[in-house]
Amino acid sequence: MLEKKKKKINFWEPIIGTQEIKNIKKVLNMNWPNEGLFTKLLEEKIKKILGVKYAVCTTSGTASIFLSLKAVGVSRKHEVIIPDITFGATAMAASLTGAKIVLVDVNKENLSFNLKELKKKINNKTKAILPVHISGRGANLKDIKKIINRKKIFIIEDAAEALYSKSNNQFLGTIGDLGCFSLTASKTITTGQGGVIVTNNNNFFKKVKLLKNQGIVGKSDGGNVKHTIIGYNFKFTNLQAAMGLAQITSLKKRAAKLIKNNKMYRDKLKSVSEIKVLNFNFSKGEVPLWTDVIAYKKRDKLIDYLRLNNVECRKFWFPLHLQKPFKQSSKKFKVSSLIYKKLFWLPSSLNLNEKKISFICNLIKKFYKKNK
Ligand SMILES: Cc1ncc(COP(=O)(O)O)c(C=O)c1O
Repeated sequence: MLEKKKKKINFWEPIIGTQEIKNIKKVLNMNWPNEGLFTKLLEEKIKKILGVKYAVCTTSGTASIFLSLKAVGVSRKHEVIIPDITFGATAMAASLTGAKIVLVDVNKENLSFNLKELKKKINNKTKAILPVHISGRGANLKDIKKIINRKKIFIIEDAAEALYSKSNNQFLGTIGDLGCFSLTASKTITTGQGGVIVTNNNNFFKKVKLLKNQGIVGKSDGGNVKHTIIGYNFKFTNLQAAMGLAQITSLKKRAAKLIKNNKMYRDKLKSVSEIKVLNFNFSKGEVPLWTDVIAYKKRDKLIDYLRLNNVECRKFWFPLHLQKPFKQSSKKFKVSSLIYKKLFWLPSSLNLNEKKISFICNLIKKFYKKNK
């Protein structure tokens, strides 16, 4: 059942142009490769695009989540609530604060918190909730805010996969107290590694800036720095920012392409009853970073078949409650412990075109014809 060999279609490929190289050369010529002017320029661009007061670049999405939790005061005395289905980084970042990780089952519709379960897990130790916008799909922030009901619990959005995506026409990452994006290679725009924190709160902004730079306030002329709090080094280099400044010019175009590709998959696979492309609310501004699907039947066999035909898909993450550091019984995770086995991502790269998407969809149709 092997089709004619073709060049491999990867799950994702970063798209890098000549402007990135030109910008990086400028930084090299400036002889200031560490954090500096270009970092500031990228932060200004992000602020403008997302309409927020403050943006801070960091070394990664993981670091951004950690710093945001620290900025709202999360410590080992507290609990942080996280959905059971997310990339491990969400929980790893929260673990760095020393807080207890509290996992909550998800709902099938947007893979975010099951709200009834979330409600049950809130207590007087809960300091932060970390909704995750999986594949760029908005988590139920409005409902989460209602549940919190003005209690002193902070919402830190894990918007690692959601740069430029909106929920109810509001940019994801800008709705909670702080929002965290990732600029790693599999994201809409990339700087190799990197992260961004956005917020409208001046205190959180100032705290994040201190925390990412060894607790140092202001500029020094050498060794005469004053460490006002315990901080770290999560600085974002001019070299990374040079790449980001080139990438961000096409953010809107990239988002449009991701929507177009997702719609194409949706259309071409609508007749295949064994598989469903998960919904996105395009009219309210959601942008699908990756095309996620549920295979009601034979997910693993389908993925193997596609791989044999040079098409690389990605299985969903194991739920966190099945991962060694966060291990728990599956009893309280009825949805996540079943659904993850059926979920996967189709190739979602920005360089896909109709021909490639048709090829992939035809393979899927062929597979289910032979594997009823
Ligand atoms: C949902 C989610 N959270 C957090 C991260 C961590 O981001 P980074 O890899 O930049 O640390 C990622 C991506 O890698 C992610 O997909």
